[in-house]
Amino acid sequence: MAGLIPQNFIDDLISRSDIVEVINARVPLKRKGKEFTACCPFHNEKTPSFTVSESKQFFYCFGCHAKGNVIGFLMDYEHLSYVDAIESLAADAHLDVPHEDNGQGNKNREDKQPLYDILKQAAELFQEELKTSQRAIDYLKQRGLSGEIAKQFKIGYAPDGWDFLISRLGKSKDHMLALSKTGLIVTKENNKTYDRFRDRIIFPITDQRGRIIGFGGRILDQGEPKYLNSPENAVFHKGFELYGLYETKMALRKIERIIVVEGYMDVVALAQSGINYAVASLGTATTTEQIQKTFRTTHEIIFCYDGDNAGKKAAWRALENTLSVIRDGMIAKFLFLPEKEDPDTMVRKEGKEAFEQRIKNATALSEFLFEHLKQECDISSKEGQAQLASKANKLIQKMHNSLFKDLLIEELSNIVGLSQQHLESKISSSEEKNIPPPKKIKPVRGQQILINKTRIAIALLIQNPALATQHKVPDNFKQAFKKGLSLLYTLQKTIESNSEISSAALLERFRGSEHENALHTLSMLQTPETENTDNILDVYKDIIERLSIEDRYEFLTSKLEAGKKLTEDEMEEYKNLLQSGLG
Ligand code: UTP
Ligand code: MN
Repeated sequence: MAGLIPQNFIDDLISRSDIVEVINARVPLKRKGKEFTACCPFHNEKTPSFTVSESKQFFYCFGCHAKGNVIGFLMDYEHLSYVDAIESLAADAHLDVPHEDNGQGNKNREDKQPLYDILKQAAELFQEELKTSQRAIDYLKQRGLSGEIAKQFKIGYAPDGWDFLISRLGKSKDHMLALSKTGLIVTKENNKTYDRFRDRIIFPITDQRGRIIGFGGRILDQGEPKYLNSPENAVFHKGFELYGLYETKMALRKIERIIVVEGYMDVVALAQSGINYAVASLGTATTTEQIQKTFRTTHEIIFCYDGDNAGKKAAWRALENTLSVIRDGMIAKFLFLPEKEDPDTMVRKEGKEAFEQRIKNATALSEFLFEHLKQECDISSKEGQAQLASKANKLIQKMHNSLFKDLLIEELSNIVGLSQQHLESKISSSEEKNIPPPKKIKPVRGQQILINKTRIAIALLIQNPALATQHKVPDNFKQAFKKGLSLLYTLQKTIESNSEISSAALLERFRGSEHENALHTLSMLQTPETENTDNILDVYKDIIERLSIEDRYEFLTSKLEAGKKLTEDEMEEYKNLLQSGLG
């Protein structure tokens, strides 16, 4: 996706735009010393902990740890996709976004429009058809839906037969292609085609911009499959979309919470009863992408699944995925319904107020987490406690640094009777396997981070990309033994590809990579080395040289420790290293 827009254009766009200006236009900022502050737009707070650095062109919130550059801000604040954020920034700068010619990208873009068009036309035809089918109308009525709600969700009816769409839309080559690409028609072996959806109630699925991207179709009577869905295609990616999210956004200006349910009918029935903030994860486990998307729209999610085993399982998957995306200021809860009920039947039985009471009483994530683990492990024994600690550690490790993470560790410590320090060291030890014991732990604006030479070097380079042109990282860092050196090498190469690149643009290159988070944190690290701007080049050279020596020393030591023989040259090198006082 990012490949469509030339990287240099993005670098340039970031350096041309001013994050202070962009944010200030949306969230009024106050100057405070070198930086600007405001109450954080990403979580509720009374005293400002949202900070924007003009020199670094980043924003950061001490409270919820939201952070990023100007593109990240637009994505999070305006709920934009990556490409849309770039488009919006470019529009402000009166620039046209170039798309690489002859690349797949441009082609894909053009190819998609006919698909959106045909999906829209099909949805309209299905809606029209609903009006003429008494059977379909009766079905929806019997399920408690009003005409108004059916209209709001663009619910339709696909009539029985094999060629409804083609007979209405015509058989032109373009239409046939678009119909088949979206899966609206299916091609048989003899090249004959037929409609995918026949005699079914149709639920159109929209993307965040309200474009129709696919359909779910429910059978009216008994039969298999109960629901038929559009296949994955160029515009429909199941794991990324949420049924009802667009409708929720349209219905509410301020979305306090969103309830995630399993089915189309659950969303629609909840809306019918006045609970117009439900979305469905399209019949699959709720993915991290879907959770991220939801958290961009609201700060509280209530996952609502059936009370049966399958529901519990789905909830646990959602919990695992939530842990890796949740940040301070975000809330996740779990609502389990009585067996044999789903949100649709429940809300029709007891009404809006009672259902909202259930939402209020939903189980906190932490409670579900520990209750579930306690059921899996017998904590009356030491073995069971250790098993629980180990399982919990695995889950907690996936989390971003946050107060919430600290609190979970605290609770775990109470349950298993191990000190928090002990647990924390176990949690970080698997992340930091090859890094020697921390020399110092330094808070970077509320986040604790281990400081070592590698990290200082990375911090220096990302904060001052020009260093790469003044002093090169050695090529052998590419396959170095020490963890982190290869990242230094990658940074070096990235800067070499655009020697003018700014810190914020450099970070942008790592969006979505495994290093994104670490680089963001290091971009804000303040140590004597990063703050002393007078002889920064000398300091940097010195650290790179020491890292290079340490890397050799650690490599040779590990070889010896593994019982391997050193070559003569290596032995000589090892002795020299020892004499130089490293050992
Ligand atoms: P459910 O079986 O819980 O259906 O599937 P439901 O939403 O309660 O449907 P009603 O009330 O019987 O009409 C939940 C979701 O799983 C997907 C659909 O997205 C459905 O809404 N599903 C289910 C399928 O995709 N195919 C199926 O055959 C069944
Ligand atoms: Mn149902």
